[in-house]
Amino acid sequence: MAPPTDPPRRAWRASLLRFVADPGAQDAGYEYFPDGLLLVDAGRVAAFGPAETLLRELSTEIPVIDRRDCLLLPGFIDTHIHFPQVDVIGSGGRMLLDWLETHTFPAERRYEDTAYAAAAAEVFLDELLGNGTTTAMVYCTVHEGATEAFFAAAQRRGLRMIAGKVLMDRNCPEYLRDPPGGGLDATRRLIARWHGTDRLCYAVTPRFAASSSEPQLAGAGDIVRETPGLFMQTHLAENHAEIAWTRELFPDARSYLDVYDRYGLVRERAVFAHCIHMEHADRRRMAEAGAAAAFCPTSNLSLGSGLFDIAATDAAGLPFSIATDVGGGTSFSQFRSMDEAGKIAMLQGQYLSPLRAFYLATLGAARCLGLAATIGSLATGSEADFIVVDPQAIPLLARRRSQSTTLTELLRLILTLGDDRLIRTTCSLGVPVHGHA
Ligand code: GUN
Ligand code: ZN
Repeated sequence: MAPPTDPPRRAWRASLLRFVADPGAQDAGYEYFPDGLLLVDAGRVAAFGPAETLLRELSTEIPVIDRRDCLLLPGFIDTHIHFPQVDVIGSGGRMLLDWLETHTFPAERRYEDTAYAAAAAEVFLDELLGNGTTTAMVYCTVHEGATEAFFAAAQRRGLRMIAGKVLMDRNCPEYLRDPPGGGLDATRRLIARWHGTDRLCYAVTPRFAASSSEPQLAGAGDIVRETPGLFMQTHLAENHAEIAWTRELFPDARSYLDVYDRYGLVRERAVFAHCIHMEHADRRRMAEAGAAAAFCPTSNLSLGSGLFDIAATDAAGLPFSIATDVGGGTSFSQFRSMDEAGKIAMLQGQYLSPLRAFYLATLGAARCLGLAATIGSLATGSEADFIVVDPQAIPLLARRRSQSTTLTELLRLILTLGDDRLIRTTCSLGVPVHGHA
């Protein structure tokens, strides 16, 4: 598929939704135009507002795509997902450490074959785009070739992606183990080739504390410090057995987070997946350092990991986003993530509004990544990555929609009943990369 190159200017008429702030528990922080117009110029948002006003000033030469029965919003941003785990999804039924050994590591081994990885990267990107996700923060495997293949595939499609080679040099099968120093050398080569190339960014990716030696964690910290704008991603406090094991491996650390902190990995542009069984001081420490958490509801349920505490995360002022964590997670669809997130909130006597759920998968996620000026907002001048959601695509949803009146009701129906069938079009820089104009 060719990267988006076409047309200079185009307008989309639809119900428009974007966020300007975290709605929290309120029905606030958003802009909604039931009959709106989005104008795209050279891949960026040129205008976003009521159709009636904007159409008056619009040159008749600019084509207007009429999607008045659809909802247009920023493309989803998935802050935690594993590319090789397209081959693991649906193999739950075991808890984390057992699941890694039994299903995940053997599946990731196949990615030593770069041709296999290149073909899987296309499948993975098709799934992301088909589910309306325009940016993801991606774990590749330990293999440099597979990581290279992922970046090359994303580059060919002109996507904004953040990814990294997994660092893992102990407590894993021999066949997936970085040689001493080798993972860090490969990381440096990949950064030189891909970080800042087109719309791509690099994330230094120690899998989790237990599978990296102290020299590898220290080296990861050095690399992140040396190179401006790099991201960092890892897992944190997901599962009780994992936490106990980490304590044994790092007896001097104050907490699980402290292991990462000692090596300079708790910082801006660092995203820690799960953050379930956390000491409150660690949430505050992450917030103070400018780091973010990724809440992965379908994964946390399918691996029996536990319940992410939204209220405690908010109380610490720690930004978080909603992510899929495929293949521990069971769906590429952020609708499914949002729905399960709301249930996890309720199981703890908390409430996640549909508006906030959509925020957490768009602008909220962009903020966690420090990219809010670029993606996730559809603000004027930002990149025109957006989706057209068609509530008619699912007959039961269409029926229920005809019985609802408010935006909140519509969003709740979409996240309850929705999946990839609803994504009529996904646009990257204003050009369809899934579906049609
Ligand atoms: N912790 C270390 N590796 C993984 C992984 O691949 N998935 C999840 N959910 N947790 C992890
Ligand atoms: Zn994960």
